Amino acid sequence: MSTEQSWDVIVIGAGAAGLFCAIEAAKRGRKTLVLDNGKRIGRKILMSGGGRCNFTNIYTSPANFLSQNKHFCKSALSRYTQWDFIALVQQYQIPYHEKTLGQLFCDDSAKDIVEMLQQECDKAGVKIALQQDISAVAFADGHYQLQTNGISRTCASLVIASGGLSLPNLGATAFGFQLAEQFGLNVLPIRAGLVPLTWQPDDKALYEEISGVALPVTAEANGTLFPEDMLFTHRGLSGPAILQISSFWLPGDAVTVNLSPQQNVAEFLAEMQQKHPDQELKTALTRLLPKRLVEKLLEQNLFTNQPLKALNPKSRERIADLLHQFVFKPNGTEGYRTAEVTLGGVDTNELSSKTMEAKNQPGLYFIGEVVDVTGWLGGYNFQWAWSSGWVAGQYC
Ligand code: FDA
Repeated sequence: MSTEQSWDVIVIGAGAAGLFCAIEAAKRGRKTLVLDNGKRIGRKILMSGGGRCNFTNIYTSPANFLSQNKHFCKSALSRYTQWDFIALVQQYQIPYHEKTLGQLFCDDSAKDIVEMLQQECDKAGVKIALQQDISAVAFADGHYQLQTNGISRTCASLVIASGGLSLPNLGATAFGFQLAEQFGLNVLPIRAGLVPLTWQPDDKALYEEISGVALPVTAEANGTLFPEDMLFTHRGLSGPAILQISSFWLPGDAVTVNLSPQQNVAEFLAEMQQKHPDQELKTALTRLLPKRLVEKLLEQNLFTNQPLKALNPKSRERIADLLHQFVFKPNGTEGYRTAEVTLGGVDTNELSSKTMEAKNQPGLYFIGEVVDVTGWLGGYNFQWAWSSGWVAGQYC
């Protein structure tokens, strides 16, 4: 075997977490190699945020993450913060802006972030091997042995940064979960998150006609509520409010949507009744909601179109309840094909929150999305990738 094939650190996955970890490890003088199954590095970064990469969120805190152990992410997030990553972006003079709710996006292109990572890799001396098919991993005499493309490689520290299952056409595989199981680590059930929800067949027939309608709402499932925009699609509901709530939704649960979160509908109708008693209910409601949605609700006879003066307090309350609590039972989600993240994964109880190393398997590290830590929509998932990658890079 040539010396080239013996490494201090091998990182599997040239995504956000893997590259960041490799940079830190190499800065410490560790001879570091990154292996990836794709043709280029940072493929998800390139397509993230509509091509502009929402690379972090200025309000990042542990409260923005889902995990069976809510405390696990605290250590990494506090040691490498959003401000640290922002400082790096500024050092590279990458222009960026806050879009909304603390979400930072590149002004120009996500390519800027990938190029920054590539330059950091080059500076630190990280080697990267692409289009690698890892066929076997074994542990013997304190070292890991990897078989890839007919080459045998060994390393003292093996870092798994192979991500989750979302976007299988971008190279996502179950490699990280399988490897965790191979080494006896518990893997929590996985499911698609930050994903559109689909209609039941009856609802589809009703609502597919108003696909394209969007409005600000609050969406609630299992006690968690998000105020953002919602979009009707041919197959179900999408938009940030629904993507956010999808991570909290479980099959069989209902989602409750407040279609008029900023205006109390009963009070609005009472006021309109006084000012414009002859105005039709439909006309009044289109001041609150998109016209096509109002027409759809009327079409279902959920309430009758009539002059406002005909409404009594009880009927105003009934209409208000309908609009403030629009309940729907999703058939399911669009699945990994369109999901932004994979919920669940390597059980955090198996890992040190300080180093990301497996407690019972020396030299084996898990970082990024493969771990059971999932952020909300809005740059939190990349921040977890940077933070978990950075801490592992200090120890691997
Ligand atoms: P990531 O998936 O990025 O990288 C894993 C790497 O491992 C990939 O390169 C993969 O090819 C490789 N790999 C997998 N299996 C392998 C194997 N068997 N052998 C070798 N290599 C293997 N988040 C955010 O904060 N802001 C945003 O704007 C967006 N936008 C966004 C858009 C879309 C369309 C998606 C799908 C996702 C987002 N996300 C996001 C989520 C974010 O992209 C995600 O959380 C991080 O990329 C996770 O980083 P990782 O490095 O853990 O995995």
